[in-house]
Amino acid sequence: MRCLATAAFGLEGLVAAELKRLGAQQVRAENGGAVFAATAEQAFLCCLRLRCADRVLLLLAEEECLSFEALYQAVRAVPWEKYLAGDAFIHVSGKCARSQLMSVRDCQSVSKRAILDRLRDKTGRSVFPESGAHYPIEVSLHENRLRVALDLTGEALNRRGYRTWNGEAPLRETLAAALVELSPWRPGQRLHDPCCGTGTLPIEAALRGAHRAPGAEREFACERYPFFTRQVDVAAVRASVQAETDYARIEGCISGSDLDAEALTLAKRHVRQAGLEGKVSLWQQPLEELQLPDAEGVFLCNPPYGERLGDRKTCQQLYRQLGLLQKRHPGWSLCAISSDPAFERCFGRRADKKRRLYNGRLECEFLIFAAR
Ligand SMILES: C[S@@+](CC[C@H](N)C(=O)[O-])C[C@H]1O[C@@H](n2cnc3c(N)ncnc32)[C@H](O)[C@@H]1O
Repeated sequence: MRCLATAAFGLEGLVAAELKRLGAQQVRAENGGAVFAATAEQAFLCCLRLRCADRVLLLLAEEECLSFEALYQAVRAVPWEKYLAGDAFIHVSGKCARSQLMSVRDCQSVSKRAILDRLRDKTGRSVFPESGAHYPIEVSLHENRLRVALDLTGEALNRRGYRTWNGEAPLRETLAAALVELSPWRPGQRLHDPCCGTGTLPIEAALRGAHRAPGAEREFACERYPFFTRQVDVAAVRASVQAETDYARIEGCISGSDLDAEALTLAKRHVRQAGLEGKVSLWQQPLEELQLPDAEGVFLCNPPYGERLGDRKTCQQLYRQLGLLQKRHPGWSLCAISSDPAFERCFGRRADKKRRLYNGRLECEFLIFAAR
């Protein structure tokens, strides 16, 4: 199978590295994701295990496309009768950028017509009830390059299943997992988020630390595709992935605190829903008063930026407090994501490493201040 793992801008390289670790072949990062070759079983493993990607798509056609006729022919050439069940609910979504064809709606309707014409031709059926499983099909045109793909994931991969309530400015799970990956923290070490909000960073660190697949407890669209389940024993793959979880690796390692009682209530609920109760400690405390007993560790945080929460001055005072927090913990490194260019000045020292990332549409920097 030729596949595409889509990813937020800036995370493509991390996703490519994850794919290689999962055994995918011919991995190539590109804008918005990474393409790869895999067996059906590996593609399912990617759905279960990828931490930083948004979706896994099965690529069915890729070619230059300059007209609706070319689009129709390219979509019709895909052997849909092999992929779609008789009662498939066929949902075509579209994307067009810098291409000759720029009407998403027309591309969607031409593609749907091409799929149904092909099915009529090859199966002899004339009625398509579309009452069965959902088959999300993506038709995208970028600089006249057409890609037709079947979504294997369904709901995006960041929907791990543990978050049911959003706080004021929650971090997307996939970005939180990326920050854990980019930080110097490794399983077995202490990690603390001093402004943990709804708990996304500690939870993602715990999943990573325990080698727990983020998708192990949820369903994927491909599990309802007969062509896919004929090739992969999804229950067996899921069970073997679940068996690899080892909570002993994170015992006493991961914690978070926050000033706000309401955010903590949500964080505790998410920890419980993630099945991590007793494995991640959370408490209410302003970071100005935080003093941890451990000699070494990593602070990982997503403090308010001023754009969305609180005003800029208050946020900058908080960055100063983060600097003091690290000074009180000389064996600890501190990593923070912020959109405020004044972060380092307020923090009181230059970061040892920086990386540009996007939190939604907000351009941010991920700053690493090494232990001293
Ligand atoms: C951007 S939110 C963090 C969101 C979190 N990463 C999540 O996924 O939900 C920033 C958090 O910093 C907390 N905060 C602000 N000032 C604080 C302080 N002085 N001490 C501790 N936490 C603080 C806020 O209560 C808020 O929950």
